[in-house]
Amino acid sequence: MWKSMAAAVALLAGAAAATSKPAAPPSADDGLEAVATIQDIMENVVDPSADALWASVSSTTTASGTENRQPRTEEEWKAVRRYAISLAEAPNLLLTPGRRVAEAGGKLEDAHVKGILGPEDIAREIAADRPAFVERARALRVAAKKALAAIDARNVAGLFEAGTALDDACESCHVKYWYPNDTRPPPPANPNLAPLK
Ligand code: HEC
Repeated sequence: MWKSMAAAVALLAGAAAATSKPAAPPSADDGLEAVATIQDIMENVVDPSADALWASVSSTTTASGTENRQPRTEEEWKAVRRYAISLAEAPNLLLTPGRRVAEAGGKLEDAHVKGILGPEDIAREIAADRPAFVERARALRVAAKKALAAIDARNVAGLFEAGTALDDACESCHVKYWYPNDTRPPPPANPNLAPLK
């Protein structure tokens, strides 16, 4: 009896699947709305969070000696965790459909430098090969998750390493979309990794 009921249920389910329409494409109203531009997200979410994360584990040498910084108190670990969370979620923001690169007529940082693409070129490049953009956004997420794991393990060396991975993630996206024609060796996004002058 149970067996036949199960069979009947399976049959019904099969019939339903056969007659139901193919999955609808994601509707325009998926609840997401890209409010800010990529430039806004860089300036207000990604850049300040990355700078703060990098600054939290850094070694600065000046004439008066070397200052090694690392999170020590619970408060400091909490603060750096906040930045890692922002960085881990930022790729989702970058990938929200309809996200514009910049406001119409807006100027990008370093727009005066030779080899810098304008917002329209960047938008075209992103649209031309969406998976390449997704891949670079994912690399940012991977680096940020590495930082999160190190933070949760209170692992200072791991956090420093994640900072380097983070820098690579910024760079690999910028070199493709922001300054692909720039022939100068790119400066590290992380000022703490800049070669000593
Ligand atoms: C998935 C791609 C991608 C990743 C990853 C990425 N960026 Fe960007 N970023 C861009 C693009 C595209 C631009 C050029 C448009 C613009 O200027 O906003 C840009 C521009 C910027 C700018 C200049 C903003 C301005 O005023 O024009 C800063 C600063 C910046 N990124 C910081 C970072 C940092 C720091 C990281 C890493 C923690 C990072 N970005 C990771 C895509 C990315």
